Amino acid sequence: MSNTYLFLYLLALVQGTLAAALPWPKKSPTYNQNEIHVTTSCDALYPQDTGSLGLDAAMTEAPAFLAISLVNSHTADISTTHNSNVGAPSPVSGSSLPGTLAAGATAAIAVPTNWAGIISVNDAQYPASEQNSLIEANYQNRTIEKHAIADIDVSYVNGFTLPITCSCNDLGVTGCNKDLFSLSSCPVNTVDGSCANPLRSDLGAGAPNSFFEPCQNAAYTYPNDNRANLQNECQNGQIVCCVGTSCPPSYKQTQD
Ligand SMILES: *[C@@H]1O[C@H](CO)[C@@H](O)[C@H](O)[C@H]1NC(C)=O
Repeated sequence: MSNTYLFLYLLALVQGTLAAALPWPKKSPTYNQNEIHVTTSCDALYPQDTGSLGLDAAMTEAPAFLAISLVNSHTADISTTHNSNVGAPSPVSGSSLPGTLAAGATAAIAVPTNWAGIISVNDAQYPASEQNSLIEANYQNRTIEKHAIADIDVSYVNGFTLPITCSCNDLGVTGCNKDLFSLSSCPVNTVDGSCANPLRSDLGAGAPNSFFEPCQNAAYTYPNDNRANLQNECQNGQIVCCVGTSCPPSYKQTQD
């Protein structure tokens, strides 16, 4: 073994040990709120999210389709709607129609490169609407990487109905499994089981309303709550989202 290879070997050994010893973040790191507004890539802001967590990051190509599964771990049936953004290709499999997912059941869609859209979720006694807890996702072919990048988040920016988390390789990577209704009172009247987010249109907000605060950094709780987003850290083409308080927590949410 030449000195160069020995050095590289030792370096790999040390880095491997460090990676293995790194605890998964239990608390979201603090960060300078101002950075959020000038940085478009969450990877640049949160390099610690990649690598140490066993995610499938930075591949040189991407699977043809991104499968997004939805597991109903809520105590009752849920209503769901799927919307593809204007101009985006349709999912290649799975129903895109509004529907009901029974308690304990799982559904999935597979979306092609350049798909973008949302899935909204509510208890089945109410219709799913745009003011509900949302999964927002896209699989855009970006010019830098020259292949599709999985980009997904759970958003309570429009409103909150039920808790959602999404996982990659069994690790919760976005969302928050807390039932906000059981933690405090909705600041406005709930409509169809949804607590509207008062900061929905407030692009200057730097902190959430107190009702949404327990999920800050994990799900979007205000328009610039970008820590919640997952981008280019899960490239295996499989993301599993789950509805309900018994879902796996995302590593981004606070434990209390
Ligand atoms: C993505 O874009 C690159 C050019 O940037 C192109 O070569 C490649 O075929 C595209 N992939 C898909 C799946 O559209």
